Amino acid sequence: MALLRVSDLRLYYATVGGVLPAVDEVSLIMEGGEALGVVGESGAGKSSLALALMRTLPRNIALYDGIIEFEGVDCSKLSDEEFRKRIRWQRIAMVFQGAMDSLNPVMRVGHQVAEPLLLQPGVSREQAYAAVQRQLELLLLPPEVFQRYPHELSGGMRQRIMIAMALILSPKLVILDEPTSALDVIIQAQIMNVLKRLKGELGLSILFITHDLALASDLCDAIAVMYAGEIIEQGGVEEVLTEPGHPYTQKLLATVPRLKSEAIPEFIPGAPPDMTHLPQGCRFHPRCPHAFERCRRERPLPFRPNPRHQVRCWLWRGRP
Ligand SMILES: Nc1ncnc2c1ncn2[C@@H]1O[C@H](COP(=O)(O)OP(=O)(O)OP(=O)(O)O)[C@@H](O)[C@H]1O
Ligand SMILES: [Mg+2]
Repeated sequence: MALLRVSDLRLYYATVGGVLPAVDEVSLIMEGGEALGVVGESGAGKSSLALALMRTLPRNIALYDGIIEFEGVDCSKLSDEEFRKRIRWQRIAMVFQGAMDSLNPVMRVGHQVAEPLLLQPGVSREQAYAAVQRQLELLLLPPEVFQRYPHELSGGMRQRIMIAMALILSPKLVILDEPTSALDVIIQAQIMNVLKRLKGELGLSILFITHDLALASDLCDAIAVMYAGEIIEQGGVEEVLTEPGHPYTQKLLATVPRLKSEAIPEFIPGAPPDMTHLPQGCRFHPRCPHAFERCRRERPLPFRPNPRHQVRCWLWRGRP
């Protein structure tokens, strides 16, 4: 049984400019212990996908539907109350984008990490604090960090505190939204090593959101590439990196600088579409070097070059 199975998930916002389909017909599968990288440019809908999975939605929702099955439970059948009690934070936890700057400045970080546990029935303060210490150790933070205030910690330490907080209730899946974007490369590497350990030692499943394809491929077993609200390609990390099927993924790969190659990194010409006025047909066609008539007319259907690899592109079905 898959850990997470998402089918046709849609999250549309109501905006003054019109309806904005931030997540549109997204389907994906994650196995237990697997790390899935969700990669895409700014505004592609990565955070919206995470919010949709966590059911932490802003007020201006125009549409929220689709099926989210987690550990065999169809979450769409759970009320908000049931979802909050059974799934959110207990089974699926998240580190929100930019959250490390939102720690409570006047509370010692150990107490902040302990809070979700203390809200559980029958958990004593001693048990909670002991659990926090175990988390700190797991995240390679010294025990004295418990007594510190957020401003006394470096960015990398604060981010590890956020991860500790997400893991304190022992969830099966943790969603990390751009966990290293605000950090320098050395600290970024430390966090990536911690994540690899958590995955290896705890068998933690990770949904890793980033705009950095190279970073995602370092940790992840599978990659999903988002563009303008859709997953336009997904598959095993090897396949996506070595045989990218979508022209957008190919372009994205060409933007990654390579140490051992003379090739100059490219940039992707044009800009992502206005999400309230999407182009007809394929959303990438105005920037695509291979676009033909059908791409301008019809939205591509997902195509599977092989069972684990999926591409939303008309090139795969042959020109009409
Ligand atoms: N609450 C909201 N109301 C209206 N539009 C929103 C809202 N939140 C996000 N959007 C829009 O939805 C689209 C997807 O945004 P989202 O934040 O999910 O993208 P992202 O891939 O996470 O981008 P980034 O890499 O910058 O974090 C964007 O066009 C954004 O402007
Ligand atoms: Mg985001």
